[in-house]
Amino acid sequence: MSEGLEVTGLVTDFETRRSSIRALHGVSFEVGESEIVGIVGESGSGKSTVVRSIIKLLMPPGRVTEGHVDFFGRSLLDMRERDLRAIRGKEIGFVAQNPFSALNPVLRIERQFRNIAKAHGVDRGNQTRVHAIELLDATGVKDPDRVIDGYAHELSGGMAQRVVIAMALFLNPRLVIADEPTTALDLTVQRQVLDTLTRLTSGSGRSMLIVTHDLGVVANYCDRVLVMYQGRLVEQGPVSRVFVTPEHEYTASLLESVVRPDAAPPGGTATIATAGAGRAGR
Ligand SMILES: Nc1ncnc2c1ncn2[C@@H]1O[C@H](COP(=O)(O)OP(=O)(O)OP(=O)(O)O)[C@@H](O)[C@H]1O
Ligand SMILES: [Mg+2]
Repeated sequence: MSEGLEVTGLVTDFETRRSSIRALHGVSFEVGESEIVGIVGESGSGKSTVVRSIIKLLMPPGRVTEGHVDFFGRSLLDMRERDLRAIRGKEIGFVAQNPFSALNPVLRIERQFRNIAKAHGVDRGNQTRVHAIELLDATGVKDPDRVIDGYAHELSGGMAQRVVIAMALFLNPRLVIADEPTTALDLTVQRQVLDTLTRLTSGSGRSMLIVTHDLGVVANYCDRVLVMYQGRLVEQGPVSRVFVTPEHEYTASLLESVVRPDAAPPGGTATIATAGAGRAGR
């Protein structure tokens, strides 16, 4: 069976008695072991719907009506909720867009780590705390010993996002899914947080599926890119190919929007600020 994530023919509808919206029209792609894959596309193109469909965390009334999701040989969409819950958090870590929505405001940070461990039957008391502090430190949280005894509201946005990343990585998942993990943060903090996330992902054998509207992030961190447009995956391939010779009109226009006019050689074509990169090309 497959080594990683294999999504085939995903169709997702938001259906109420009054209306039915098809948000995904048969989306297929793979994320191999150790691979970092980016999803780009305009607002409303279906990026969040794709990642949430995979782990069955769609907002109601969303429902996957067709398709198949294989994760290391297991069919996620056919699983019972209980079995899926055992995979979420443990084998698949999820980093949501807004860190504060992912943190519990009334529980100390340590308790939240302990609860994750408990939910998967691996809470070891003080050992769990020590491991959490190590991970907070690895994600760049300052004073992790103090932070772990505090509450979410005491954290800046950047620090809160690092805590959420530490939680997503806590049980050493094989796959990390991040849905615009840094949009709530300012630009320099965004890059720092993404550096941390990708550093802790690459080299560990983990794979990552990351939704972003930032093509620079894709160029810097991803091996491959998926381009969504109106509920369809219109193009996918290695970043080094897609960003240099896009095949789809929409990809071309997306790249044009980040063309640096000042980088155009006299009489030549403008270069794309992010082109020619990709993780493989570094
Ligand atoms: N809760 C919902 N109810 C009804 N339709 C929805 C709902 N959520 C999403 N949709 C539909 O699915 C489409 C894709 O939404 P999705 O949130 O996946 O887009 P996105 O690419 O993540 O956008 P953004 O960049 O703004 O986060 C929307 O255009 C909308 O038609
Ligand atoms: Mg979204």
